[in-house]
Amino acid sequence: MRMVDIIEKKRNGESLSREEIEFFVNGYSRDEIPDYQAAALAMAIYFRDMDDRERADLTLAMANSGDTLDLSEIEGIKVDKHSTGGVGDTTTLVLGPLVAALGVPVAKMSGRGLGHTGGTIDKLESIAGFNVELSSADFIDQVNRHRLAVIGQSGDLTPADKKLYALRDVTATVDSIPLIASSIMSKKIAAGADAIVLDVKCGEGAFMKSVDDARHLAEAMVRIGNQVGRRTMAVISDMSQPLGRAIGNALEVEEAIQTLRGEGPADLHELCLTLGAQMVVLAGRAADLDEARALLEAAMADGRAIETFRRFVANQGGDASLIDHPERLPRARRQVTVEVPRDGVVARLDAALLGTAVMKLGAGRETKTSTIDLATGMVLNAKVGDRVRAGDPLLVLHANQDDLDEVLELVGRAVVISEHAEPPVLIHELV
Ligand code: URA
Ligand code: CA
Repeated sequence: MRMVDIIEKKRNGESLSREEIEFFVNGYSRDEIPDYQAAALAMAIYFRDMDDRERADLTLAMANSGDTLDLSEIEGIKVDKHSTGGVGDTTTLVLGPLVAALGVPVAKMSGRGLGHTGGTIDKLESIAGFNVELSSADFIDQVNRHRLAVIGQSGDLTPADKKLYALRDVTATVDSIPLIASSIMSKKIAAGADAIVLDVKCGEGAFMKSVDDARHLAEAMVRIGNQVGRRTMAVISDMSQPLGRAIGNALEVEEAIQTLRGEGPADLHELCLTLGAQMVVLAGRAADLDEARALLEAAMADGRAIETFRRFVANQGGDASLIDHPERLPRARRQVTVEVPRDGVVARLDAALLGTAVMKLGAGRETKTSTIDLATGMVLNAKVGDRVRAGDPLLVLHANQDDLDEVLELVGRAVVISEHAEPPVLIHELV
């Protein structure tokens, strides 16, 4: 088999066989196929697309290109949840304990934040003592005993995807549905999921700006999952404004605690119930979404959800006392209130710009090797659609730096106050 023939075949719009796809993925991850041939194939796929069978074969080939997590020693159906990335997206911190409270096993491998999007591992590390580096035996044992454990990425998962994603980034081939869908799904499969719930974000703060694009991606991933024997569901949700009110690591832990008690912001609460219901149905714990939702609401109301979070924090070495004393979380030195500039209705809170402002406060990474400040971030006092008056507090910056000029400039551009505005639709579709 020759790589040049595979490139030519895809360039001409033909389907690649499974053997050809495996030849490419294995050869590329072993450095036997050069970047220029991989780049040519990525561009051919960008223009010629892949059919469902090719997408599934590409996903499995990448999933099997490195280490895979074996979760077979955990009883029950392991449901993983993936978000395509957002600003102030506190859902994983809430969903883990919430669905685990119903007995659903949650064995989650999570990432760190990059750019304007945050990561669950960073958020958990704002809890003093919390250990995200469990051995795989301890990880499995925690889930079997307590239904929930979260670890950082370890081992060499999907090396083919890592290499191909970096190449796509510099060859203008990132935004291709078959390549994005197989990239995301390969990582979920390598991480051991039996079933997958996807939160595909759309809007200014997201990868997919329109509902149509988000739907295409969601449908592509659901079809891949179902073809490779992992039941998959998806939600298309709004990321035009940040989710909830808090953005920043420790601030989002506090927001998750409120939400687990049933006292969280309306949008975060609703999205957690929607995604959680899909997880519970896929895990076989409820017959339909309505029943699942009622079970989740009951677990919030009677305290099982927050108690599961408390046990989870303690099991992984964290200081669980801060659940009742959130003032013990890392606190920034300065709290600076930004006021509403004029009377009207909040028409825009651009998620990408606010996410970048929070990154400039030190809460997010500009590059993979940046160190971050777990205490900093912002808390919104108003959301899109809220009526406000000049001089009201619009948001509070939590900062450890003196110079806030750049942050305030970004916030100024992110916020629009006008005469009329409706709150955005939170859940566009279930796929
Ligand atoms: N996120 C991924 O993990 N892969 C892509 O290709 C795009 C976004
Ligand atoms: Ca939030």
